[in-house]
Amino acid sequence: MKFFLDTADVEEISEGVDLGLIDGVTTNPSLIAREGKDYRKALEEVCAVCEGPVSAEVLSEDFEGMLVEGRDLFRIADNIVVKVPLGPPGLKVTRRFSDEEIPVNVTLCFSANQALLAAKAGAAYISPFVGRLDDISHSGMEMVEEILAIYDNYDFETKVLVASVRNPIHVLQAALAGADVVTLPFAVLKQLLHHPLTDKGLKKFLADWKAANRNFMTEEAEER
Ligand code: E4P
Repeated sequence: MKFFLDTADVEEISEGVDLGLIDGVTTNPSLIAREGKDYRKALEEVCAVCEGPVSAEVLSEDFEGMLVEGRDLFRIADNIVVKVPLGPPGLKVTRRFSDEEIPVNVTLCFSANQALLAAKAGAAYISPFVGRLDDISHSGMEMVEEILAIYDNYDFETKVLVASVRNPIHVLQAALAGADVVTLPFAVLKQLLHHPLTDKGLKKFLADWKAANRNFMTEEAEER
C-alpha cells in the first residue's frame, strides 16, 4: 500500500519523505490556500521535495478551461498528476488526458458508480472521500470496498486512492480492504507512528538496564 501526504506544507512533506514512508502527495485548492502562496509556486515547491506523484487540482469548472489548466499544471514537473473533479467536464478531460498519457486523479468521489465512470474514462487514480461520507452518516469504507470489487471484476487499472482520511482507523480499514493508496493528513501520519505501549515499554527496558547497573562487557571487548 502506498502512503501519500495530503498537504501542501513543504516542511511536513520533507519530514515525511525523510522518514522514508511517503510515496507521493495530494493537494487541493483548500490546502494550497492554507499555505498563503501563489498556486503554481506552491506546487513547484512540493514537486521539488517529493519525487513521487503530486496531484495538482484544476481550478476551472468547464471542459476547455480544465484542458488548458491541466496541461499547464502538467508542465510544472515530471511527477504531476492532474486532479479533476467528478462530473461531465472532469470525466471528458480524463478521457482526453488518458489518451494523451497524462495521468489524472479524479477527485470528490462519493459513490462506487462515480468511481466506475472515472475508471471507464481512463483515470490513473480515483479519490473516494471517506471522512466526508462518514460525516453525513454513510460508510465511506463501504464505498471503498465496493469500488475495489468493481475494479477487480473488470480488471480496471485505476488505482484506488483513499482520501478525506481523518484517523488511524481509516488507514487500517483501507489497508484491510486492499486499497492501493491512502493519502494522509500529517497529523494522522504522526498518530500512526506512535503507540503509548511502545513508549512505555521502551522507557521500562532502559530503566531496568540502568537500575541493574552491571557491566556485561567481556575482557576482550574492554581491550578493544
Ligand atoms: C485529497 O485528495 C482530498 O482533497 C482530501 O483528502 C480531502 O480531505 P478533507 O475531506 O479532510 O478535506
